[in-house]
Amino acid sequence: MIRTHTCGALSKEHLGQKVILTGWVNKWRDLGGLIFIDVRDRYGKTQAVFNPEENADVYEQAKALRNEDVVEISGIVAARPDNMINREMKTGEIEVAAEALQILNKAKTTPFEILDDIEINEELRLKYRYLDLRRSGLQHNLKVRSNVYHIIRDYFYHNEFMEIETPILMKSTPEGARDFLVPSRNYPGRFYALPQSPQTYKQLLMVSGFDRYFQVVKCFRDEDLRRDRQPEFTQIDVEMSFVDENDIIRIGSELVQKVFKEVLGIELEMPIKRMTFNEAFERYGSDKPDLRFGMEIQQLNTVFAQSDFKVFSSALESGGQIAALVVKNGAEFSRKKIDKLIDRSKELGAKGLAYWKYQQGQFSAGISKFISEVETKELVSVLNLQENDLVLSAADTYETTFSVLGQLRLEIAEDLNIIPQDKFAFLWVTDFPLLEYSEEEGRYMARHHPFTSPQEEELPLLDEQPEKVKARAYDLVLNGSEIAGGSIRIHTKEMQEKMFAALKIEKEEAEQKFGFLMEALEYGAPPHGGIAFGLDRLVMILVGAESIRDVIAFPKTSSALSLMDEAPSAVSESQLRELKLKIS
Ligand code: AMO
Ligand code: AMP
Repeated sequence: MIRTHTCGALSKEHLGQKVILTGWVNKWRDLGGLIFIDVRDRYGKTQAVFNPEENADVYEQAKALRNEDVVEISGIVAARPDNMINREMKTGEIEVAAEALQILNKAKTTPFEILDDIEINEELRLKYRYLDLRRSGLQHNLKVRSNVYHIIRDYFYHNEFMEIETPILMKSTPEGARDFLVPSRNYPGRFYALPQSPQTYKQLLMVSGFDRYFQVVKCFRDEDLRRDRQPEFTQIDVEMSFVDENDIIRIGSELVQKVFKEVLGIELEMPIKRMTFNEAFERYGSDKPDLRFGMEIQQLNTVFAQSDFKVFSSALESGGQIAALVVKNGAEFSRKKIDKLIDRSKELGAKGLAYWKYQQGQFSAGISKFISEVETKELVSVLNLQENDLVLSAADTYETTFSVLGQLRLEIAEDLNIIPQDKFAFLWVTDFPLLEYSEEEGRYMARHHPFTSPQEEELPLLDEQPEKVKARAYDLVLNGSEIAGGSIRIHTKEMQEKMFAALKIEKEEAEQKFGFLMEALEYGAPPHGGIAFGLDRLVMILVGAESIRDVIAFPKTSSALSLMDEAPSAVSESQLRELKLKIS
């Protein structure tokens, strides 16, 4: 390379050495006869100084420099005067006294300055993503991401996993999200689909005997996007044979342990906590509880068994659930703020939200007049109430009560700013329900995917009470975000057929969609299971990014557009003709 050092390398050790730096002009300034610039590359910045008294020609050349020009500078490493030392900068004790300058390429004025702490409209940032990527925040995020690839590959290779690529053009078997389709030119009217995950392939690899597989793999899902969802995202995909839940949970735990240690220098507490799905739902109203803070949901059916409050008594009569959240110091909330919470609970599907305040040993406001003395005593002790607490209570169906309180718990904590930002709270959630009813489809759907094994002892329930059957599935949750999910799989054809029947997938349809997998299960499929990590989400948390877009080099917007190259775009008539496609 042209350079002798990167822009992050020089220090007092190099004083007096002749060096060559290459990079971008970062901050051009003319200070009373001396020109200073920072030369920037991905390793850092180094100040270069142009002095007309020492080198008039080069000084004249430097006058023409503009920010973001690409330069090559040779010079001598010199100590900065004491009053110009910058301790924030790695190279802040030195500068390069320039002796020669070559402008390798001039740059147009960029649509925004390449500076770190400035607000730039996100659309503009995405349109000029390659410029945004010059800024140190995104540079850091991508460095961490690259580092994570390295760490996980190290881990898997060290543990005798094989990295195997699986097809990107595959058969469409939508079950869950919508597929992205690719028309086939050779077979008009037929389509490939992009994989939502390599699930079927990795199971087939187990049938082939590759008993420890992993892959860092792009997955594609045409679904509504959110803060932590992209239409194409990356999984760390893992599958193993002759294992049970504990083996996969151990591998997944070791992996995050290693990543956190090597990226952040943080020693995670092992083993990572576990909680069943039911417990998570009843304590936090969620299958991915954020354990960085308390404010657990408390059940109040027993306390209110004899309640005079109509809302509570009728909820209990119809087999419903009463539960509550205690908000510390919430008694100081204004009426308006409480009304907002009530409205929010209705938006979330509750019929309402009852509340009361605890001050000076008594209940006041809200529904306090319906609470008897006996109930008061019990509530103070069950809820462990303290001065100025606010109690928010829902009485609805089991599902609604816990899920609404769970969501309010998160929103209130965010609003009160009580979630510690420097904490990493991991949790394995286990024993998920196998199925969930879809109103939209009018049938049960696999909660994880249709290849997940039911828990054996629950099988007799599959026909009569399918919603009661538990799956051999587990998720890894970090700070309320699902960063990995997996399961032990079905490995016999009989069981797979039973599963499809429970999902009301007709034999023919199952055969047509998954025949290849079912057949493979008959040729000696070993018991197997696995997991997939959402790599983008993991990196997002490691770097503290607000959005998944901040850890992906070229992301899509939340409406699935690429503002830079303007994908998706129209294609030519001739391309369509070749594919025998017509736009209707
Ligand atoms: P699952 O669908 O749970 O499992 O996906 C695994 C993990 O991938 C991440 N993830 C996403 N990240 C960003 N954008 C998205 N749209 C997105 N969707 C999912 C999540 C999730 O935990 N084949 C199974 C895994 C298995 O059973 O082994 C699967 O894909 O972090
Ligand atoms: P109402 O008698 O309908 O005016 O309701 C009295 C209070 O109970 C109001 O604060 C409502 O928001 C609340 N409420 C209504 N339905 C429920 C419910 N299902 N669970 C909890 N509180 C409710």
